[in-house]
Amino acid sequence: MPNNLTVIVLAAGGGTRMKSKTMKVLHPLAGRSMIGHVLAAVQALEPQRIVAVVGTQREHVAPHIQELVPDAVLAVQETQEGTGHAVRIAMDAVGDVTGTVVVLAADTPLIEGETLRGLAEEHEAAERAVSILSGRVANPFGYGRILRNAEGDVEAIIEEKDATREQQAINEINSGIIAFDAAFLTAALPKLDNDNAKSEYYLTDTVGLARDAGLAVGAYAIDDVMQTEGANDRAQLAELGKELNRRIVTRWMKDGVTVMDPATTWIESEVVLSRDVTLLPNTQLLGATVVGEDAVVGPDTTLKDCEIGEGAHVVRTHGELAVIGAGSNVGPYAYLRPGTQLGVKGKIGTFVETKNAQIGAGAKVPHLSYVGDAEIGEATNIGAGTIFANYDGVKKSKTVVGRHARTGSNNTFVAPVTIGDGASTGGGTVVRRDVPPGSLAVSGGPQRNLEGWALAKRAGTPQAEAAESALAATDVSSHGEPSVSDE
Ligand code: UD1
Ligand code: MG
Repeated sequence: MPNNLTVIVLAAGGGTRMKSKTMKVLHPLAGRSMIGHVLAAVQALEPQRIVAVVGTQREHVAPHIQELVPDAVLAVQETQEGTGHAVRIAMDAVGDVTGTVVVLAADTPLIEGETLRGLAEEHEAAERAVSILSGRVANPFGYGRILRNAEGDVEAIIEEKDATREQQAINEINSGIIAFDAAFLTAALPKLDNDNAKSEYYLTDTVGLARDAGLAVGAYAIDDVMQTEGANDRAQLAELGKELNRRIVTRWMKDGVTVMDPATTWIESEVVLSRDVTLLPNTQLLGATVVGEDAVVGPDTTLKDCEIGEGAHVVRTHGELAVIGAGSNVGPYAYLRPGTQLGVKGKIGTFVETKNAQIGAGAKVPHLSYVGDAEIGEATNIGAGTIFANYDGVKKSKTVVGRHARTGSNNTFVAPVTIGDGASTGGGTVVRRDVPPGSLAVSGGPQRNLEGWALAKRAGTPQAEAAESALAATDVSSHGEPSVSDE
């Protein structure tokens, strides 16, 4: 690997075709900004230094670069006078540069570290002044064309606007990624002029200068030209995003992940999956999500920054910043909000919303519940339709339910409140006071039955008729005023 490598990333241009208040290279795909992908590929090369040229919206671009690559050198290009001008500013920012310099644009998010490495290695092995990463494309419009002589040697790069008709028919293009000998580049940059159709200082004119000086120039052609494609508008951004996703999904399948429907499965760059994970259709794994071996996720599931344990099943779920234990079951229709932690073999079931909730191993919240600001001990079962009332309109408070508790259906736990280990609650209980370990809490009065009520008060209705025939069949008195039976 080249041991004296400088990489210059060009990010000063505006990108007006995005029609966005957000600078082009900050637009995201697969969970990273465009420039974030480029910097990740560059970092894979472990260069001696990375120089980023910023200009347009540098108040947003520069901090983003500093966050991703804290030791990157930032060079400011106040006015965008062309790629040659930008590279000169970058070289001036770092002073004496020796070895190899690789220049690339910040808007080619599919570029891979391996490709840059191949270019740099071939460039050094061939001892060239300039090596252009080139490719053959179906539609070369807009690109600089590679001009070769009769022997097939690279003579020059001619830009679209300066090219003759014959030259425009050439489909071998300059990807914009170029490796230079640093000494040659330093000497050549001051010699560039802007005497061309765009009145810009073209970096590509260095090729002609090298040839004139009798130095070696070559092209390193790649077949996978999509790696060098830029996104200039949002339609191209979506295309590149889809292609990047296709590549990520394919890589995970090759690493042992089953993906039932690659076309509807979205996996962002930083996601980590284990072998024998199964992803069902319409699943999006975002951010720093990690999924353990044998887990099944989907269908119709979005997980952002979640950790899913081995063998867990997560079905039709929306989750963010949640940790799901091994062998657990989640969903269908669960909403896991930040701070949800489910222990080993736990359950967060159907139509259950959780937030800042630590739910112990083997504990279950199976149906129709809201669990907010809660701690639930191991092997506890929360009844259907339970609300952890954490908010009194002013502040949030916590509910603690112990181990092996059994709470009834349709309960409300009014926080702050504690339900002890091994405690129970009856159906419909509103728990306002702590329940000691092992106690049964009930609230609301005992049940009263007003017998014969329907016949007395709803006479002549289908309800009364149904009651009358049921009572007749059981041979119970069915007339007169209702009588009361208490519990
Ligand atoms: C450039 C190449 C062209 C190549 C194409 C590949 C030149 C003269 N032409 O053309 O041969 O086929 O890329 O996409 O180099 N930038 C700055 N400061 C500037 C000008 C540009 O930072 O003053 C940055 C832009 O933000 C962009 C990159 O350099 O990231 C390329 O500039 P752009 O204007 O898009 O060049 P092209 O005309 O596409
Ligand atoms: Mg361009």
